[in-house]
Amino acid sequence: MATTYNIVLLPGDGIGPEVVRETQLLLEELAPSFGFTFQFEKHQMGGCAIDATGQPLPDETLAACKRADAVLLGAVGGPKWSDPTASVRPEQGLLALRKALGLYANLRPVKIFPQLLDASSLKAEVLDGVDLLVVRELTGGIYFGESKEGDETSYSTMLYTRPEIERVVRVAAGAARQRRNYLVSVDKANVLGVSRLWRRVTSEVMAEEFPDVELEHQYIDAMAMHLIRRPAHYDVVVSGNLFGDILTDEAAMLAGSMGMLPSASLGDSSNGLYEPIHGSAPDIAGQGIANPLATILSAAMMLRHSFNQDQAAEAIELAVERTLEAGYRTPDLAGVAAPDQTVEVVGAEAMGAVVRENMKEVIEML
Ligand code: NAD
Ligand code: IPM
Ligand code: MN
Repeated sequence: MATTYNIVLLPGDGIGPEVVRETQLLLEELAPSFGFTFQFEKHQMGGCAIDATGQPLPDETLAACKRADAVLLGAVGGPKWSDPTASVRPEQGLLALRKALGLYANLRPVKIFPQLLDASSLKAEVLDGVDLLVVRELTGGIYFGESKEGDETSYSTMLYTRPEIERVVRVAAGAARQRRNYLVSVDKANVLGVSRLWRRVTSEVMAEEFPDVELEHQYIDAMAMHLIRRPAHYDVVVSGNLFGDILTDEAAMLAGSMGMLPSASLGDSSNGLYEPIHGSAPDIAGQGIANPLATILSAAMMLRHSFNQDQAAEAIELAVERTLEAGYRTPDLAGVAAPDQTVEVVGAEAMGAVVRENMKEVIEML
């Protein structure tokens, strides 16, 4: 009997439903060629769930995510739910989901498609050869520490425990071993006590368990600079929750757009959550021009990490590459094509359709 993978779709808000739709269509097209099937269940999370139920992560959605083989998320949030006095926020749903599924390691690969070297605001020669993996701690740090909001005084606490640091460093170092054996750990140990623990524990884990992997420590401010000065030099970067969030939006500009970076959020035993790193993009939502490639590439990560379907993942990645090679660009990528490139600017639906066509051709060649 053919294997069936149960996927929960959380389209969310803003451009979320636009990019998830194209990804679902692609997965439906792909499955028969590899002898498996997908069963999709759609649920609400974020602002749409607040509107429908008053809760950003309804119990029913969480239960479905726990049952699923994997979860694919679009994005949550938007101006409608951003009133600073509101007691519930879409983003709380996402944080609660990550925590409830134990997804402490967020893998954010930054690979530059050669066709997009000119789409970045950086010089092509700086970007040549960039192939980074940022491993962001996802269920701890300042996102989850004690906090209080008042009219005169507010605080948020950045707290890490030794086991929280150890487990994410192990994921990052393990990944480095499969790559170029080079890990950079990012912190702010010149100022923050929590970062000094981060640095000490990281050094200990690496010395005891990964002596073959080169370890370098960088401060977050300097790393933000190094990342655009010599991005191709780096291999795997590990950091706490907040620093990883910031560094990866910066890294998206190496790839040309927020619409290009996928991610996988993984834990020890539970199923994974796959999502683009971008948000709900309220400035372009509803216009049909969102770039679906980050979500499509997240689905490729799902096939690889949750289902061990490496060839199917590769089919998606090659299809994306062929689509870019043929000159198709959503508007976020279209601004700065190379002089010798003929570019066709398309919306999300047309982009999705061309990727599906290219995927069929790729599969025939496999
Ligand atoms: P954003 O990532 O939504 O948008 C930043 C910029 O990038 C915008 O100009 C947007 O148009 C562009 N962009 C992002 N994704 C794109 C895509 N696929 N195609 C083309 N252009 C794209 O960040 P923001 O504006 O700071 O946040 C908007 C909302 O999204 C906020 O409520 C925020 O909390 C939320 N958010 C959610 C997630 C998530 O659900 N994982 C991630 C980040 C932000
Ligand atoms: C991301 C987002 C989220 C984060 C927000 C929406 C909670 O920015 O996934 O990168 O900060 O983790
Ligand atoms: Mn972010």
